[in-house]
Amino acid sequence: MKSKKTFNKSICCIGAGYIGGPTMAAIADHNHDRKVIVVDINKARIDAWNSDKMPIFEPGLDEVVKRRRGKNLFFSTDIDGAIKQCDIIFVGVNTPTKTFGRGAGCASDLQYWEATARNIVKVANRDKIVVEKSTLPVRTAEAMERILSNHPKFHFEVLSNPEFLAEGTAVKDLEAPDRVLIGGHQTPRGKAAIKALAEVYAAWVPKEKILTTNLWSAELSKLAANAMLAQRISSVNSLSALCEATEADIDQVAKAIGMDSRIGPKFLKTGPGFGGSCFKKDILNLVYICENYGLKEVADYWRQVVLINDYQQERMVAGIIKTMFNTLANKKLAVFGFAFKANTSDTRESPAIAITKLLAAERAQIVITDPEALGHVSGDLGELAANVETTEDPYEAAKGADAIILLTEWEQYKALDYKKLYKAMRKPAFLFDGRNILNHVELKSIGFEVKGIGKP
Ligand code: NAD
Ligand code: UGA
Repeated sequence: MKSKKTFNKSICCIGAGYIGGPTMAAIADHNHDRKVIVVDINKARIDAWNSDKMPIFEPGLDEVVKRRRGKNLFFSTDIDGAIKQCDIIFVGVNTPTKTFGRGAGCASDLQYWEATARNIVKVANRDKIVVEKSTLPVRTAEAMERILSNHPKFHFEVLSNPEFLAEGTAVKDLEAPDRVLIGGHQTPRGKAAIKALAEVYAAWVPKEKILTTNLWSAELSKLAANAMLAQRISSVNSLSALCEATEADIDQVAKAIGMDSRIGPKFLKTGPGFGGSCFKKDILNLVYICENYGLKEVADYWRQVVLINDYQQERMVAGIIKTMFNTLANKKLAVFGFAFKANTSDTRESPAIAITKLLAAERAQIVITDPEALGHVSGDLGELAANVETTEDPYEAAKGADAIILLTEWEQYKALDYKKLYKAMRKPAFLFDGRNILNHVELKSIGFEVKGIGKP
């Protein structure tokens, strides 16, 4: 008879999204002695994780999942079964911005998190470590503990272990993180739980990169890290407007300031504004928390980061209208890129959504091309989608167009045959490089009217 494989402390993750899937795949890949189960209420998503086509596009993820799936990595809709089997329960459900009631438009909607906590209490069969993987408002663990402490027999120790991976580089970020942050109570039980979780990561992350803090510091550090990253982008984008007014070049300015070792070169690339599911949501959440603690000035400071982001998109469209003789009506515009950044199919809060809507309001005819994200166009644009065309072929998109508007920095857009594109377009042919990734001198010599962002 075959001997049954025994596993060390088993792990499950509730929520099989952009965070749950890749994070658990990395943990399984480095902890062959642990069973890792990823569960979700969304059956289609679980089916996709169990198929040949992953539900999210993430370079290198297929290989990791296929390496461990069915061995020590499992995807399932049996949430209760996973809670029962596992000792460490990660919760990676979505925490979107609240759209109703008090705090609408700012606060985190914690209904999915709370439902998960209540379910853990309902079905647990022994003590568990419950790990906050979702990004949550500081002091959420307090509320969770109150729900989890309702069990007459079992104890649930709550840890905060926020995730810092970025989409498009998730596998690389998980493989070699800058740090792993684990926050917990500084009590004997809390310290034991921190140690148990640290052991999971120590399977591949150097010990000095595993940082342990109190619960509230870990929760707040996640919001703070995203706010600081987004703030750099808004800072550089605000300066891009001043560059256009003064004939300075934002890429030269960014390089010059980034060479100061105290500032550093990363996250200083101007563009159409930051997108992605988290920056805006997390800053607004920070704003809401500050207001709740009576820190109005602090709230106003962070809110400005979001306002500059909106301004950058409006500014870009205003520039397009002005350059194209103050009318876009019936002009054909080819939008290159719909994903919020390259190497992902994710379009949540993509600047392309707001920009397309503003262009459509000018009654332009819009064709969108993107190598991975076209599946989201109709959902993201709602009623407008009926008037917008899509094609995977950028040459097709540009045929007869008055302008190309590049919004996502896909590597393949650098390698296109711009002479061929120019030939197929109506003249004058405009090219708005929203990411400053193309060779503007060369494009001008072909005949394009080129506009970058923050360029003289
Ligand atoms: P997502 O929407 O892709 O995935 C969340 C999943 O949770 C969904 O599949 C949903 O069906 C599932 N879910 C919701 N309620 C559930 C329940 N009661 N039981 C079981 N499953 C349930 O979201 P995401 O992008 O993975 O983000 C999740 C959290 O991680 C958020 O708090 C986000 O801020 C944080 N985060 C995300 C990223 C990122 O790169 N996307 C990075 C760091 C942190
Ligand atoms: C971001 C953070 O980088 C992660 O650390 C964090 O874990 C994650 O949010 C999260 O909490 O969800 P992500 O949104 O996936 O990751 O992608 P980023 O690379 O940060 O890009 C965000 C947006 O900023 C994109 O629209 C990107 O194009 C834009 N960006 C980024 C710029 O405009 N300029 C830059 O210099 C960098």
